[in-house]
Amino acid sequence: MGCDDGTVAMLLPYQGHPEITDETPLAKSIVKEPKTTPALRERGMTFKKVMDRAKRIDNDEFYTRYEDVEKELSMYDKRVWENKTVFCNCDDAVGKDENSTSAFAMYFIKHFKTLKLKKLICTHYSGQVDLFGQGAAGYIFTKTGFKAIGKYERPKDYNGSFDHPLSIEILENEADIVCTNPPFSRAIDYWKLIIDSGKKFLIISNITNAINTSYIHYFKKKKVWPGYNRVDNYINSKRELVRAAGSWYTNLKIKNRDRHRLLKIVPLKQIPDKYIKYDDSGTLLVDQGYIPSNYSKPFAVSARAILNGVLEKGFEIVQENRYTPYIDGEEKFARVLIRKQKG
Ligand SMILES: C[S@@+](CC[C@H](N)C(=O)[O-])C[C@H]1O[C@@H](n2cnc3c(N)ncnc32)[C@H](O)[C@@H]1O
Repeated sequence: MGCDDGTVAMLLPYQGHPEITDETPLAKSIVKEPKTTPALRERGMTFKKVMDRAKRIDNDEFYTRYEDVEKELSMYDKRVWENKTVFCNCDDAVGKDENSTSAFAMYFIKHFKTLKLKKLICTHYSGQVDLFGQGAAGYIFTKTGFKAIGKYERPKDYNGSFDHPLSIEILENEADIVCTNPPFSRAIDYWKLIIDSGKKFLIISNITNAINTSYIHYFKKKKVWPGYNRVDNYINSKRELVRAAGSWYTNLKIKNRDRHRLLKIVPLKQIPDKYIKYDDSGTLLVDQGYIPSNYSKPFAVSARAILNGVLEKGFEIVQENRYTPYIDGEEKFARVLIRKQKG
């Protein structure tokens, strides 16, 4: 399978890359369009929009390391992926080597056969900072080969954005599972779009989402839960290692969550005094993984308790707003209110 608009340059992108062998279904037939940069007007942009976007860039340009993708994705039952179309829709470039290929794209390309994928669709966003140097682009991998989403198949204004109509069409009509690390600055819109789509997903986002009013609803309604791992290291656009507090989130089935061992679910009396406080409204706050097993009123926990899987241990979120405790009139760090489920 090749690119169908005839304007392609031959590219053997994975030659020499240790992860890619002749066994890789797409290694032989990769073609790519020449990169063109449409004018601002053609991209539906104005100078002001470009400047506004530039302000948000710093936080967005954190790229995922291959080992973090591998560590998380290898935890799921392989049958999850079988005969499925995976969509990587946030700057998941495919290039000639690992420096120009996102870790998500690389993982699924490498494991295409063993996961028995039906299709992999990766799109690349043409942002202000372009670590992968790809421009707006899209790629489709199937068992028989590879195809770039042709210049003539994309609308002129296609910028690779996850909320561009073409990306939404792929999400709605093709994707079974969405897997990526979306831009932090658009995280709320991204979550809404993906969760409302009803598709399966496995994504990276900020650890504090679980106590952020914009997201609590999804945890409360069990539309999303933490994945297995935290993600603390990323690569920035200068290719330096940087730290940020991220976690995997998903609606794929989780088995034997290792982080449950970090929860200490014990009777209130057994919680050391230093990990218990009552705020000015009399609400109990618990820390250090302690969860009272015999307390019937709502109490407040940090994001860590949610990430460690407390909602899978017979507790539920009580209110959809972040809970901000005050002690002696002083604001303390935000939490979420949970309580033991009845019955
Ligand atoms: C946290 S980085 C992750 C990139 C890549 N998915 C990875 O995991 O390495 C988020 C990426 O989303 C890109 N981005 C920003 N706005 C976007 C949009 N509207 N649609 C798709 N991607 C966007 C940013 O340019 C950035 O490269």
